[in-house]
Amino acid sequence: MTNPTFDRPILVTGATGTVGSRLVPRLLAQGEAVRALVRDPESETATRLRRAGADLAVGDLTALDAAAMTELVAGTAAVIHLAAAFRSGETPEQSTAVNTDAAVALARAALAAGVPRFVFASTNLVYGAGQTTLATEESPLLPSTFPSPYPDAKSAAERALQQLDGLDLRVIRLGFIYGDGDPHIEQFMTRPLDWHPSRRLQMVHHADVAQGLLLALRAEGIGGEVFNIADDSAVTLAEIYGYMGRELTPEMNARAVTDPWFGMVDNAKARRVLGYRPLFPTMRQALDAGAM
Ligand SMILES: NC(=O)c1ccc[n+]([C@@H]2O[C@H](COP(=O)([O-])OP(=O)(O)OC[C@H]3O[C@@H](n4cnc5c(N)ncnc54)[C@H](OP(=O)(O)O)[C@@H]3O)[C@@H](O)[C@H]2O)c1
Repeated sequence: MTNPTFDRPILVTGATGTVGSRLVPRLLAQGEAVRALVRDPESETATRLRRAGADLAVGDLTALDAAAMTELVAGTAAVIHLAAAFRSGETPEQSTAVNTDAAVALARAALAAGVPRFVFASTNLVYGAGQTTLATEESPLLPSTFPSPYPDAKSAAERALQQLDGLDLRVIRLGFIYGDGDPHIEQFMTRPLDWHPSRRLQMVHHADVAQGLLLALRAEGIGGEVFNIADDSAVTLAEIYGYMGRELTPEMNARAVTDPWFGMVDNAKARRVLGYRPLFPTMRQALDAGAM
């Protein structure tokens, strides 16, 4: 355990999700106190977090009124807002309710509770379709062609959060998350993809997601800033197939190459401002380290 940075707990929403369930133990190991928002305190993951030392708060963000949200945040030092809905075929209304409206309501409650530091987990998908080079944090957020309302709901949340006076906002745009036993890549491979094998996926290992979130949590004087947090290099679909021991088919090479910059981001600002240095700069290095 190291010396904590904060003298009050960090509120982590989405604590039982794939990111939260790995981030909370890291925060605890660094000596931080954690208030973990969970929907089911009896779940295996919530139980594991409680046993590891997290203080559980129970609630569904779409069901809490302003007073309950303020109570949720009161007495904490900062919020890491991970809770999101994007895995279950959400309707645009459901996506907006969780990914936009709940984020903004929580940030308002944090302000009301005197807790302005707010780390918001966003996604590289907000850059949308048709970028013409690696996206930096200054790139326009273009309309999405992603088959889900999620990217646009996250963009809307970012815009709304940036409007909240006094919020010490840190927006973290994460790539496709993998590693640490997360089955995300296997799930990705079961999707009906029409990608040419040369198309790339911009990934980020869980260890580096935690690194990026915690650097952003602790940095001073970065209110309102946005950071891309991703591996140093993207991997092609062909490489992923190779790493996973799968064969490419001739049919795949006949596919069109579309939107080659989709999801591709530059992490230079995070390196420069936060001192972010990916522990696993590429998926190859995570494989070699046995960190998948
Ligand atoms: N995974 C990725 O590749 C990826 C990439 C880019 C950005 N991100 C962002 O990173 C963050 C974490 O993602 P993740 O992969 O950990 O997501 P996840 O595994 O789907 O977890 C989402 C979490 O949000 C909670 N949640 C959903 N709706 C809620 C509600 N109404 N009230 C309270 N909690 C609610 C879920 O609770 P339950 O456990 O009870 O279901 C779960 O803990 C998200 O903001 C996501 O947008 C993820």
